[in-house]
Amino acid sequence: MNRNINNLSVFTTGGKENPSIVLIHGFPFDHFMWDEQVKKFNKNYYCITYDVRGLGSSLVGDGQFTLESFVDDLENLIDNLILDKPILCGLSMGGYISLRAVERMEKKLGGLILCDTKSLADNDEGKISRARGIRQINDEGTKKYIEHFIANCFSERFKQTRKREYESIVNRAKKYNALGVKGCLLAMAGRTDTTNYLQNISIPTLVICGEEDKLTPPDVMKSMSDKIKNSKFVSIDGAGHISPVEAPKRVNEEIEIFLNQ
Ligand code: MLT
Repeated sequence: MNRNINNLSVFTTGGKENPSIVLIHGFPFDHFMWDEQVKKFNKNYYCITYDVRGLGSSLVGDGQFTLESFVDDLENLIDNLILDKPILCGLSMGGYISLRAVERMEKKLGGLILCDTKSLADNDEGKISRARGIRQINDEGTKKYIEHFIANCFSERFKQTRKREYESIVNRAKKYNALGVKGCLLAMAGRTDTTNYLQNISIPTLVICGEEDKLTPPDVMKSMSDKIKNSKFVSIDGAGHISPVEAPKRVNEEIEIFLNQ
């Protein structure tokens, strides 16, 4: 079912009586990123995906986003759907939102799945690269920026062997609103560092990383996982930064083991 919650496009499938999972996509993607996970888990779980404001079909508005406002949106969604201790599953930017949500409202949550993400905030180099991206979008629109950014997200093997799928992902992202894309960049550049909170996380946590993830590499994710008491780290062979799209079967296997615990 497609719903509008506070101008956010929200998609729910599965029985509302089942335990719930909220899946939060990365940048620059939208809810489609989780199609293979939703297809598998909506038999036993109430699966909720949504388009983070600025991307996909959620209302962009004035484009003045912060990571805090993204967490406000998530909390509002959880309250609006009356979810009882949902499991959060976030990839990269979705992971930043999930980690900050855990820091802000862990008592409302039942579990955490972190895919290809990190707790560290942007360093100076990262901030400058976001600024360069915004300048490029202002000068020439989003298309080239998106093409270049997404090229770094996927493994070479995925790009070569699943060319059509890859091109359709890029083409979808090229249509995002420039103001929305820039708003997300600013929100990510201004996010806080959640590393200090990792040792306090007590909900069960699964940390998933594509073996070939260049943006949030396995050593960074393993060290984050080591700081979380109740956490398991898994590396996904041959996958890049968007492991749930590149290797849905393997990622789903790990999520299933985690959910069944
Ligand atoms: C993502 O996949 O969400 C991005 O790589 C996050 C980022 O740019 O920091």
